Amino acid sequence: MTRESHPTYLLDRTRLHDSHTLDVHRKNDGYRALETILKEGHSPEQVIDLIKNSGLRGRGGAGFPTGLKWSFMPDANKDRRARYLVVNADESEPGTCKDRVLMEEDPHGLIEGILIGCYAMRIRAAYIYVRGEYRFAYDRVAAAIEEARRANLLGKNILGSTFSCEIWMHKGAGAYICGEETGLMESLEGKRGHPRPKPPFPAGFGLWGQPTTVNNVETLFNVPFILDRGAEWYQSMGTENSPGNILIAISGHVERPGVFEVPLGISAREVLEDCAGGVWKGRRLKAWIPGGSSTGFLPASEIGLAMDHESLKNARSMLGTGAMIILDETACTVRSMEILSRFYEHESCGQCSQCREGTQWLTQILHRIENGQGRMEDLDLLSSLASGMAPGKTICALADAAAIPTHSLVRHFRDELEEHVRRGCCPVPSSPGPAAAPPRSPSVEVKA
Ligand SMILES: Cc1cc2nc3c(=O)[nH]c(=O)nc-3n(C[C@H](O)[C@H](O)[C@H](O)COP(=O)(O)O)c2cc1C
Repeated sequence: MTRESHPTYLLDRTRLHDSHTLDVHRKNDGYRALETILKEGHSPEQVIDLIKNSGLRGRGGAGFPTGLKWSFMPDANKDRRARYLVVNADESEPGTCKDRVLMEEDPHGLIEGILIGCYAMRIRAAYIYVRGEYRFAYDRVAAAIEEARRANLLGKNILGSTFSCEIWMHKGAGAYICGEETGLMESLEGKRGHPRPKPPFPAGFGLWGQPTTVNNVETLFNVPFILDRGAEWYQSMGTENSPGNILIAISGHVERPGVFEVPLGISAREVLEDCAGGVWKGRRLKAWIPGGSSTGFLPASEIGLAMDHESLKNARSMLGTGAMIILDETACTVRSMEILSRFYEHESCGQCSQCREGTQWLTQILHRIENGQGRMEDLDLLSSLASGMAPGKTICALADAAAIPTHSLVRHFRDELEEHVRRGCCPVPSSPGPAAAPPRSPSVEVKA
């Protein structure tokens, strides 16, 4: 869905009938940017400069500047190795479902973004790593690739130019860790999706040890629009440091969950009220998560925050993937965190003890607090465990993904944690009663 009061572009084509077809796409300016670059002979460096000047930041979670990332690829004249673009379509962060909309409804927009990225980085092969559950999205993109190939928009000598490029697709098997860029590349190589230590970074040692750039679907989707309309146009939306529009997927206790296109910097309250119709059944807002489960809980009092990288960082949270999750007054934040923690425990690849053990311990402690067996010391134990897991203490940021919401729970919802301990049960009426025992029996019993 799109809000009418702000200029939009990302979802505009998705509202058209048969938006996934090449015919409709081309009639609506699709592949125009690619055609212009190839026909007018823009250099790869010019394309990278334009993306740099636009200020586009990655939409995969970290918000890294895209043009800068592209410029890290080694000089193709000096480094003759094969090079790759890997498209991260794993979309595994809980709450996140915006890449799916783009792939299902406008797959050619993604293909054009990939081709422009490959042109800019002198890459001749791209891989799209799609999460296994996204069967329909996979089929739509696969069909679009075939259509593009038949129209000479893909393959050898694209549109009669000297630029040749192929796109291959790969289906993941449903693991959160395979969304982490190096775990993803391991998986793509046919191995277990175990993240690699960095450095070396993908630009020097990526897929099969070759120079590689990994980008999110929505990031690449922005690229043709920037090429077509210019950096200034892009900067006219959003904020100075977070320009452009973003797709916000909003879920949980709202009237109208969905994917909405909004300018970066819009207030979370506007997204909740104007896009999603407010809190479900007019209830009171209790907590909200701004950008996917790993960005942590914020209290209702902070719903006025702007949805951009700086504002949320200042609030000790993150924009992440822009997946807002809303919890109303009937939700229990301890129970919610226990569910999240169990997810992270299950998804930890197990390479780093801080993550492997830490996520188990968090789950155990949260489970006993939620079920009335917690102790007051457990609150500080949660914080100290989370501090032992992150930041920067493990190979990848999965441990951070569990630690950040834990810290936020203790910081903002300490009263609710204490009430659990004092009452010896969950004080929130609708919170499911004694939860089932954790599915895996943890190897360690945590003692305060
Ligand atoms: C545990 C974990 C899971 C991740 N899952 C995804 C994902 O599903 N999709 C995604 O684009 N990025 C994901 N990321 C971030 C990627 O590692 C990487 O930063 C991103 O794909 C880069 O793209 P961008 O620069 O276009 O944002 C994940 C990171 C971590 C630590």
